[in-house]
Amino acid sequence: MAKMEVKTSLLDDMIGVGDMVLLEPLNEDSFINNLKKRFDHNEVYTYIGSVVISINPYRSLPIYNPEKVEEYRNRNFYELSPHIFALADEAYRSLRDQDKDQCILITGESGAGKTEASKLVMSYVAAVCGKGAEVNQVKEQLLQSNPVLEAFGNAKTVRNDNSSRFGKYMDIEFDFKGDPLGGVISNYLLEKSRVVKQPRGERNFHIFYQILSGASEEFLCKLKLERDFSRYNYLGLDSARVNGVDDASNFRTVRNAMQIVGFMDHETQSVFEVVAAVLKLGNIEFKPESRANGLDESKIKDKNELKEICELTGIDQSVLERAFSFRTVEAKQEKVSTTLNVAQAYYARDALAKNLYSRLFSWLVTRINESIKAQTKVRKKVMGVLDIYGFEIFENADNSFEQFIINYCNEKLQQIFIELTLKEEQEEYIREGIEWTHIEYFNNAIICDLIENNQTGILAMLDEECLRPGTVTDDTFLEKLNQVCATHQHFESRMSKCSRFLNDTSLPHSCFRIQHYAGKVMYQVEGFVDKNNDLLYRDLSQAMWKANHSLIKALFPEGNPAKINLKRPPTAGSQFKASVATLMKNLQTKNPNYIRCIKPNDKKAAHIFNEALVCHQIRYLGLLENVRVRRAGYAFRQPYEPCLERYKMLCKQTWPHWRGPARAGVEVLFNELGIPEDEFSFGRSKIFIRNPRTLFKLEDLRKQRLEDLATLIEKIYRGWKCRTRFLLMKKCQIVIASWYRRYAQQKKYQKIKSSAITVQSYIRGWKARKVLRELKHLKRCNEAATVIAAYWHGTQVRREYRKFFRANAGRKIYEFTLQRLMQKYFLEMKNKMPSLSPIDKNWPARPYLFLDSTHKELKRIFHLWRCKKYRDQFTDQQKLIYEEKLEASELFKDKKALYPASVGQPFQGAYLEISENPKYKKLKDAVDEKIIIAEVVNKINRANGKAASRIFLLTKNNVLLADQKSGTIKSEVPLGDVTKVSMSSQNDGFFAVHLKEGSEAASKGDFLLSSDHLIEMATKLYRTTLSQTKQKLNIEISDEFLVQFKQDKVCVKFIQGSQKNGNIPTCKRKNNRLLEVAVP
Ligand SMILES: Nc1ncnc2c1ncn2[C@@H]1O[C@H](COP(=O)(O)OP(=O)(O)OP(=O)(O)O)[C@@H](O)[C@H]1O
Ligand SMILES: [Mg+2]
Repeated sequence: MAKMEVKTSLLDDMIGVGDMVLLEPLNEDSFINNLKKRFDHNEVYTYIGSVVISINPYRSLPIYNPEKVEEYRNRNFYELSPHIFALADEAYRSLRDQDKDQCILITGESGAGKTEASKLVMSYVAAVCGKGAEVNQVKEQLLQSNPVLEAFGNAKTVRNDNSSRFGKYMDIEFDFKGDPLGGVISNYLLEKSRVVKQPRGERNFHIFYQILSGASEEFLCKLKLERDFSRYNYLGLDSARVNGVDDASNFRTVRNAMQIVGFMDHETQSVFEVVAAVLKLGNIEFKPESRANGLDESKIKDKNELKEICELTGIDQSVLERAFSFRTVEAKQEKVSTTLNVAQAYYARDALAKNLYSRLFSWLVTRINESIKAQTKVRKKVMGVLDIYGFEIFENADNSFEQFIINYCNEKLQQIFIELTLKEEQEEYIREGIEWTHIEYFNNAIICDLIENNQTGILAMLDEECLRPGTVTDDTFLEKLNQVCATHQHFESRMSKCSRFLNDTSLPHSCFRIQHYAGKVMYQVEGFVDKNNDLLYRDLSQAMWKANHSLIKALFPEGNPAKINLKRPPTAGSQFKASVATLMKNLQTKNPNYIRCIKPNDKKAAHIFNEALVCHQIRYLGLLENVRVRRAGYAFRQPYEPCLERYKMLCKQTWPHWRGPARAGVEVLFNELGIPEDEFSFGRSKIFIRNPRTLFKLEDLRKQRLEDLATLIEKIYRGWKCRTRFLLMKKCQIVIASWYRRYAQQKKYQKIKSSAITVQSYIRGWKARKVLRELKHLKRCNEAATVIAAYWHGTQVRREYRKFFRANAGRKIYEFTLQRLMQKYFLEMKNKMPSLSPIDKNWPARPYLFLDSTHKELKRIFHLWRCKKYRDQFTDQQKLIYEEKLEASELFKDKKALYPASVGQPFQGAYLEISENPKYKKLKDAVDEKIIIAEVVNKINRANGKAASRIFLLTKNNVLLADQKSGTIKSEVPLGDVTKVSMSSQNDGFFAVHLKEGSEAASKGDFLLSSDHLIEMATKLYRTTLSQTKQKLNIEISDEFLVQFKQDKVCVKFIQGSQKNGNIPTCKRKNNRLLEVAVP
């Protein structure tokens, strides 16, 4: 959530006040409370207008990551919570976009975080400025100059484990696009006394410890060093190791940084040789030696160390040894050599060490500048970063020359701050067309004057004393001060003529006190003269110049006898004054940005806010003064647009939109709110608010209004949310329905499709199978045809070739033999043929068994043929007779005993020659049809069984019975009325002709007749009836049958075996119902 909220003003979510200008009431307590409140909430930055107050958190806060860089990038200064990035961004953008050179002035006491702040500013600028291989290399070189300078110029002190012991001003140069081109570094007043002596609990410069910890054995050997801090007198031993500092790894970092910055290998080597030489100088010790002339002399105790130093630096040992023993003073072509006593020898040694080191440091800066300087001559935009010691006030009159110099520098900085702030303020008023009213503030120019005035200034006094012939001591210097500055309001001294401080016991006699703008500071005068002189005996500088070591030689140009200069070198004070003046000039041309660093506690610990300590710093940093200057006219100003944007909701006319110009909108707004007219002023582009109270009133109103608006927005939002939700749900429902319908239709379609495919596939399958079947059939036919053809061809071929096969020979022989046998058989049979008589049963015997069936068949065929032959001889007449005979045979053979006897008798039919015999003329006339049978038969009398002859005539249509004698027709029966003929099976000629019942002929009853030609008669009667009536006449052969006599039925019974009448059968009536025929 926190990430999402967008800040549009510094005033949003403020802890305390983000800008001290808005503090109400403004006093020291409220100021400190506000800082504390913010510090407790991890807000380490607070503004005073455009000045950033930074409190050292002493722990890493997550507010410097790349996301933060992005957050502050291109945002207006007052848009977000106070941050050092906001200041860096503002400075960089106004440099890049408005072409204004910038300087960033970072002040604060030791350990307040100045160096860290300067690095943060540089890293921010590096992150937001242009990119590219070349630009990145420049950036890298600029950033890597820091570790090198820190190694040589920083040391652990009781206040700060990484305290910068020099002032540093770095100009970063940019091209018109805002890409870095290079830089120039200036250094101020290195604390060189540290090289030879460190206060308790402090260390020498880091580099000494780094070499001894991090250099390889080989390298150490080259430098003639040992890895043992205790071996070196210049290294304070109480805190050789610092917690959380890894000297060895820092050494590697430094070497790497030197390489990146562009140091050549031989240069690096030389630098470390000088460092080693300095370290070893500390080990040279002297012993007193009295000379004959009574003057004290000194001698080097152990020359070994001296020898090694000389080897390292290429100095002639004797030259150096002499330089430590004598001092040559030249005056007006005269050279006077005096011996040095032990104390002087030590002084000389330490002076040499200090000079060597401080010159080396300056050389390093120059060398770095050579590397990082911009390569082009085009116009550059410049951003200067000043990391300089802030005001230093030690308790108990411990403030010395260094503090004096430092505080002087801070006075100067305060002065440009006042100048530039007021100037800016004034310019803004003019720009905005607001009347400038005089502002009461303290101008520290008077203090600056006290120090730097060319005639009466303290520095001038000091120089005068140093150059003065005669005995010069710190006391004579103080005396002089007491005379010259006694009347100055800001100068205090016990010894001054002014009686004001005569009784001020807090002020020791050897001290003077200056009322700096930031508070009173008491300086101990001891050492002022010496430090200002910063003397190095000429013998030493000449010895150095003679060194066979290019770097050392270059460090001591004044040692060149050719350039011998009898003029004293400028004093430290005047040098510093000059460099401060240059710096101030430089800064005045730039747009200043201030970072005021504050140290929250003395313990280097996080979370501790020592109010007394902070109060002290606030005082000497003159922060309240800052606020007052800033607030002199109007406490708060803001362009019309953002002002209207921020407060427009407070007035109906301006809310939600103001159509006119922003200024008119703000006027309407302020009038509506009833803000007193003297509380604000309308500038050209900004509204100026005199009192922070007015602003806070506006803020409160805004807050209240925002709450109301939030409720309103919430209300509308809820309504909107519900409505949109409803609409969304409705839409969703439609979408779901449409999707579902689509889905259902799809399913249905797919089902239909798959069914269609199934049906289609079945049909296709069926068709395919059909085609397949046909094809298979065709194939089979083809195959069959092929097989048949093959067989046929085979057969053909075999047939053609069979004759050539030996295998066929047997068969051929067999067939031939068979044929021969058959031939022989048939030829023999021809000769053996039996007679042509059908009844001849002879048939030659079968010659071969295999011809058995043939033989039988031949016999049958021959018999049939023989019969046919026989039959073919017959005439039609004979054929007719045989037909009848055949008929008779069918009717009676094996049924009637009489039949065999009849076979040999020809059927004559007309036994009686009716037509020729006149006796039967009458009968012949009566019968006009052709007569088939004319024969005499016996008609059995039914009464007694006696026979009476009658002529039996059979014509085509009738059966006639006529009287034999008269020839009168007794009975005439049409063939149709004859129903049956009965006879016995025995050898007798009796037969009964049964007539149809009810017919005319039947009235007299059936006829019982007997004839010798019974077979012939019955046969002819049968054939005639058949041909006439087309009905087969029923011929019953039975030994007992019934005959109808008139009304009675008489049974005729044949009894065999009666021999009464010879061979003639007899008939006898037994009773009414029985007629017995006895047959022999
Ligand atoms: N913004 C910061 N965040 C976290 N730690 C910090 C910050 N600023 C400073 N420090 C801590 O405080 C220590 C001292 O800071 P720094 O060296 O910048 O002080 P200084 O003002 O330069 O002191 P001197 O005047 O002695 O050089 C740093 O080593 C670091 O541990
Ligand atoms: Mg520092």
